[in-house]
Order: sequence, then structure tokens, then C-alpha cells
Amino acid sequence: MDDLTPLRQLWLDRINTAADPAAIEEVRLAALGKKGEISLKMRELGKMTPEERQTTGRKLNELRDEIDAALRARKISLEDAALEARLAEEWLDVTLPGRPRPQGTIHPISQVTDEITAIFADMGFAVAEGPQVESDWYNFDALNIAPEHPARQEHDTFFMHRAEGDDRPPHVLRTHTSPVQIRAMQEQGAPIRVIAPGRVYRMDMDQTHTPMFHQIEGLAIGRDISMAQLKWTLEEFCRAFFEVDEVELRFRASHFPFTEPSAEVDIRCSWDGGQLKVGQGNSWLEILGSGMVHPKVLQAAGIDADEWQGFAFGLGIDRLAMLKYGIPDLRAFFESDLRWLRHYGFAAGDVPSLSGGLTA
Ligand code: DAH
Repeated sequence: MDDLTPLRQLWLDRINTAADPAAIEEVRLAALGKKGEISLKMRELGKMTPEERQTTGRKLNELRDEIDAALRARKISLEDAALEARLAEEWLDVTLPGRPRPQGTIHPISQVTDEITAIFADMGFAVAEGPQVESDWYNFDALNIAPEHPARQEHDTFFMHRAEGDDRPPHVLRTHTSPVQIRAMQEQGAPIRVIAPGRVYRMDMDQTHTPMFHQIEGLAIGRDISMAQLKWTLEEFCRAFFEVDEVELRFRASHFPFTEPSAEVDIRCSWDGGQLKVGQGNSWLEILGSGMVHPKVLQAAGIDADEWQGFAFGLGIDRLAMLKYGIPDLRAFFESDLRWLRHYGFAAGDVPSLSGGLTA
């Protein structure tokens, strides 16, 4: 057989100019694969005389081994180069100082909403939602507040606009989170245990009122849920929320169209030195409205009032935030004053939980 030198040179050149592992594989197949040039040549050995076969066979074997070794070496060096390039590109200076804390903080309202949600979630309440632009029926009628009911006036409602000639009652900006009770019962039926945090709107503005504020609605419907369970739930909630061992609640008979009986709930506190302390002292502070869900409300939501009963409550998030964090003026919540926010704000990564601490 003729001189193998040109062949050798050809393949070694191809190997050395292969630019990446895929190209190497191509060269390998073209040379040493089943139908590769070297493999085919080896097959021709069979047609040779024994003497020829001995010399050419040896040379071909050597060539095959050499190409094989060159392929492997080139592959390794290509992989090494790729790794080097990657290491150079993904370079990281571990001696750099840590990144500064993000500028943004969590607003006290969001923080308190998360805290309250965590506490009720722990007691088995799921979160329900409803729209902020609500129909007159959900906001009032379904909650047993008839069109002529005085509560409609008390709610200082914002009405949405209706087109000229459209006589249907206008939608409203929901005046409370109670309509979510109806929506949740319609969607899920009974039994049910939900809370509904969200924005509510009333036309009112002074040191203790803003036109938009936040409530959390609670609803628990079962076959024999009672006022006693309402009391336990709220006491348990207050203990967890204010992070004190003892709280004392006072239930005052009250009236809401959607509950019967109804109670407003005050919490025992003291104002010594202008500092509010929950759980001790001689003052009482109203924190929420509550009661046993009125049968008409259950009916409006499609629930059989002979079979099901339960409690509901509605509490003001802004109020609770002021109480817990000693914020004297409600309006500060909405002024977007960054210095105020940084003073009261909470770190973005802190997620309130009962096991991990509400206010880590
Ligand atoms: N919706 C009432 C309000 O905004 C608060 C309230 C009172 C909610 C009693 C309730 C309840 O669920 O049972 O003034």
C-alpha cells in the first residue's frame, strides 16, 4: 500500500482545526466510524497478500491509534478552553461588600394585613376576594340592607356613573368587605370558613377617617357554629395579633342588619403616658363589629338557613395597625412620606407567620 503520510497529515489537520466538541465528533466518524476512511482502508487489508497485510496492517493500526489519541486530546483541550472561557466570563469577586438593603419597605397596612391573614389561616380560614366596584345588591340588599334602610345613608357611599337613561341602580365603591361574604357563600356553599381583606370606600375625611380604608371580613358557617366560638376565635386572634398572653374582650350588644344578634367588640387597654398597652388598664377600645349571620343573608347567598348557621365579623385594618404600631394619625398611611415609611416600614423579606413570629 502507498505511503500513509499525506493521509495522516490530512486527518491531523482536520482534528486540529475542529472548533468545538461537535466538530471533533464529526471528524471522528469520518475517520474511524464504520464507514470512515480509515475503517474502510482497514477492510481492504483482506484483499492483500499476507506480506502486504503485515506491513500495511501495522501502519494502518498505528495511524488509527494516532488519530484516535489526537481526537481525544483535541476534545479535552476544547473542553478545557470552554471551561476557561466560562470561568473568565462568570467571574465573581467574593470580596465585594454585600448589596445594600433594598430602599423599599413594606407598608404597615400590608404588614398588618399579612399578620392578620397568617393568624386566621392558622385557624383554617381561607382568603376570599371580591371586586371593589360592587353592585348595589351585593353591597346592600343581599346583606339585608333594603333600599330605604337608614344604614345606606350612614355608609356615605360613592356611586358609580350610569349612562343616561339607564335606570338600574348604580354600582358603588364597596363600603365594606361584607359583600364578599355573599360572593364566597355563593361560590363555595356551606360549610365555609373565609376571611376577606381589602379596600373599602366611604365619603369621609378627618383625623380618624380616610375615604379609602381597609377591612378584614370573617365568616364561619357550619351546622352548629355559635356565638361562643365567635368569642373564642376573636380572643385567640387578639392574643396572637397583639402578641400578649392575656387579652380581655368586651362584647357590647349592637345592631347590624346582616347579623342577629350583633355585637361590637372592645379590647381592654391602657393609655398610660400616652402609650397604648393592650391587655391591661381601665380603658376600652372598639376594634370590630360581629354577630351571628342573619338568616336572610344566608338565604340571599343560596344557603339553607334551617340547616346552617354561623358568625361573621368585620374589623378595620388601619385601626389595628395604628393600635399595634402606635401610629397616631390615620392620614400618614396615605401620604407616601418615605421617611415615615422607613420608620414604620417592614423589611421586604419578612413574611409574618405564627411559627416564625408575626413581627420578626
Ligand atoms: N360591615 C360592617 C361595617 O363596615 C362591619 C361588620 C359588622 C361586619 C358586623 C360584619 C359583622 O361581618 O358581622 O361597618
